[in-house]
Amino acid sequence: MIDDIDGLTLEEKASLLSGHDEWYTETIERLGIPAIEVGDGPHGLRKETGVDMVWVPATGFPTASAMGASWDRDLVRRVAVAIGEEARAEGVQVVLGPGVNMKRSPLCGRNFEYFSEDPLLSGELGTAYVRGMQSVGVGSSLKHFAANNQEIERTRISVEADDRTLREIYLAAFERVVKAADPWTVMCSYNRLRGVHASENRWLLTEILRDEWGFDGVVVSDWNAVHHRVPALVAGLDLEMPGVGGATDQEIIAAVRAGELDERIVDAAARRVLRLVALCHPGPSLVNGPIMDLGVAPGDRLSSEQLSLLRADEHHALAREAAAGCITLLRNESGVLPLASPERIAVIGAFAAHARIQGGGSSGVDPTRVDNALDLLISSFGDRVAYAPGYVHTPKDAYQDDVAAYLAAHDATFVDDGHGPARRSAALAEALRLAAAAERVAAGPLFARATALIDDAVGVAAGADVIVVFAGLPLAFEQEADDRTTLALPADQIELIGRLADLSAPVVVVLSNGSAVTMDPWHDRVDAIVEAWLPGQAGAAAVVDVLLGRVNPSGKVAETFPLAVEDTPGYVTWTGERGTVLYGEGVFIGYRWYDALRRAVRYPFGHGLSYTTFAYDDLDVSIVDAFAGAVRVSCTVTNTGSVTGKEVVQLYVGDPDAAVRRPARELRGFDKVTLEPGESTRVVFELAGRDFAYWDVATGERGAWRREGGEFVIEVGASSRDLRLRSVFALPDDPDLPPLIPDEALLDHKSSRFTEGHR
Ligand code: BGC
Repeated sequence: MIDDIDGLTLEEKASLLSGHDEWYTETIERLGIPAIEVGDGPHGLRKETGVDMVWVPATGFPTASAMGASWDRDLVRRVAVAIGEEARAEGVQVVLGPGVNMKRSPLCGRNFEYFSEDPLLSGELGTAYVRGMQSVGVGSSLKHFAANNQEIERTRISVEADDRTLREIYLAAFERVVKAADPWTVMCSYNRLRGVHASENRWLLTEILRDEWGFDGVVVSDWNAVHHRVPALVAGLDLEMPGVGGATDQEIIAAVRAGELDERIVDAAARRVLRLVALCHPGPSLVNGPIMDLGVAPGDRLSSEQLSLLRADEHHALAREAAAGCITLLRNESGVLPLASPERIAVIGAFAAHARIQGGGSSGVDPTRVDNALDLLISSFGDRVAYAPGYVHTPKDAYQDDVAAYLAAHDATFVDDGHGPARRSAALAEALRLAAAAERVAAGPLFARATALIDDAVGVAAGADVIVVFAGLPLAFEQEADDRTTLALPADQIELIGRLADLSAPVVVVLSNGSAVTMDPWHDRVDAIVEAWLPGQAGAAAVVDVLLGRVNPSGKVAETFPLAVEDTPGYVTWTGERGTVLYGEGVFIGYRWYDALRRAVRYPFGHGLSYTTFAYDDLDVSIVDAFAGAVRVSCTVTNTGSVTGKEVVQLYVGDPDAAVRRPARELRGFDKVTLEPGESTRVVFELAGRDFAYWDVATGERGAWRREGGEFVIEVGASSRDLRLRSVFALPDDPDLPPLIPDEALLDHKSSRFTEGHR
């Protein structure tokens, strides 16, 4: 197979630059150039069957927001290896993920697909994912580049963010992954950035991604994100997906022939696509295991032979281990968890019987099997378990809810007025209008059926020794192409939890949601809260392991849980207006925002409890090379409790005397350590100059990373608001940079009454 463009005609080169269809690139039979098959991820493989909404089964792992809460690079790597192995088995050569966009607002409907509100954590986990996937010879597609932080108007909205905000927050995770892990492809986002669609944004796709960061893979479009093919190609977009029947190839050819497009630009893009083809077809000796012949009719389950090629049992066990690493114990008053052996346990909530495992949209997986907590609790406690659904839940299959049935159960009829944002397909537009109707119904008031289910559940729970309520968000609330309108749980669940809390038994709430929720008015009235996230197909087994103490929870929230939606960063500009969304809060998103405002939150970034306790001691900060900004930080962490546990040790840096407004603290290091009771370990972090720097827009032509000399604060602890150790020290200016230009010198110095004051 050739891997250079010599001998290719202009037509053949152009044909490589757009897909054959939704999932395959174009072949060139004359030269034996095969197609590449791509498939969705990132939480398991989504390979379409050709029948609408029917996919080939694959293992469903925890979604990215859950994996974010694991803070576990190795776990993420192993999950990506497994997804890569399944992709290989099903013949897919590039998996479309991971997503490393920032969570500007918890309302973003796709937050469950993103790791964190912090770029370091997202970048580190994204790096682990790409390395894992590519280690088995399957390419990844780092997405959605960049600043795709809302779903409403995602294809048109123009993000107005300044350079510093982009560099420090919205681009930083991409930068880390590109530099450390060399993803085979990067997927551009749908939105516009400062007026220019990402697919046509030369600053983003060429100047930053290739020239500055050294990316040499293929830039692929998000699906149908290309608006003007020739300008997109010039900007740096190599591969348009899906294909559009060759129409845009003709535009490229015509532009070259008319002398409007330099053919060398076509050559460079075609060469990159050919390199990707070569990576995807390493030759039979390098193919890792046989590729299965699917040969199943859409909707069929896989045969046992196919499941063994998929290593379905092993991957299900890994999915369980992964979910266990993500589950976050938010609250545990008077040690109600782990459950002692109760005489009578009330299991309430339909999600116990039909687990919520994932969000909606292109990342949905048809799982090879699904565990359910109710079955597992019954197998542990037998007839000591009493169950009631407590609320309406109408799953259609593992990746779709029957929203019409949900509405009907609440006596609501869906009258489709056809109004709402335009969407790529009429079917999607209708599905989203249906989902919006479900959200309105869920906000209350309660319908007769809801009240009856609550009354019944309260009756079942009366007299129990402990009540475990499975609650959270219906799938329709968290899906691609849509954002949430509220952070609250559905009104019937809020009422249900309150009524159960009126009983005398302790109440444990198990939450299934892909992003932060608010917990008023029930939070203080329940004894324990287990955040299970959207934990994948084996999540319920992991939840039961945590409830029973077989697993000591070790997740920590990778996003702040606010007290109210009005507190959240960017709230006043959320989703924008008249085509533009202004990121006026700048670098202050997530904990950076709440800390700057000294605002109380429900659960701070990095929070998560354990069944054991940890002590932090002996902070040492050694300046290895002051001019390079190389600093070694270490401390001792000890398990002071009586069970083995894992602690996520977090290091934050603050720069209180900088010339620009900087966050009080920013995550600059983390490590997850396992400790036996009484065991200690020394945790070491190596910091470099960039860990102390901000993006100085006034240095050089384009700006530069500046480590401004002065005082720095290092804080180490168990969460961003549970900081146990602190040290203040000084570093000099970065000697490689010209001196900081003071603000006064940046202003036009003509005196006026505004600068001199009134006489
Ligand atoms: C999504 C991508 C996805 C692609 C293919 C797009 O709508 O934004 O994340 O990979 O579709 O399904």
